[in-house]
Amino acid sequence: MALHQKAQMRGHLEAVQQVTTALAAHDWAAVEAAAARMGSSPGMLQTCERMGASAEGFLEQAADFHRRADAIGAAARAHDPAATLTALGDTLSACTSCHQTWRQEVVTAEVYEAAAQAAQRAWSGEP
Ligand code: HEC
Repeated sequence: MALHQKAQMRGHLEAVQQVTTALAAHDWAAVEAAAARMGSSPGMLQTCERMGASAEGFLEQAADFHRRADAIGAAARAHDPAATLTALGDTLSACTSCHQTWRQEVVTAEVYEAAAQAAQRAWSGEP
């Protein structure tokens, strides 16, 4: 997995932690700010598009996840703890279902190189 992608993921986990902490304190502005870190901004969706370029269905799952995170922000704006928790649970189930679909294996450098070259050929349309 690309280092950048891992960093994104750790950012998502941090955002979930911040949502939870802020929710417990009823700090609605902080809940909203943390949810926005996972929200469906144009920049975020562009990043997902690049990451999922060679993985069919990835972008759709990613976009669905970010829309679910948007609902956390909306519930926080309404100062509704139950709706915020529901939206958080809904968002976390998008995390886990994506992780179930896209598992990465640890492989040797040779296996990785061969797969990367095959992907490159497929991407560029070469035989
Ligand atoms: C669109 C797909 C997708 C979504 C949605 C998603 N992830 Fe991930 N995430 C991945 C993939 C793929 C990996 C690599 C999995 C593997 O190594 O098997 C990963 C890895 C991670 C890692 C490990 C990072 C590391 O440093 O190795 C963390 C932490 C993580 N995700 C957290 C989250 C959290 C929290 C959410 C939701 C708030 C989330 N992810 C949503 C695809 C996704």
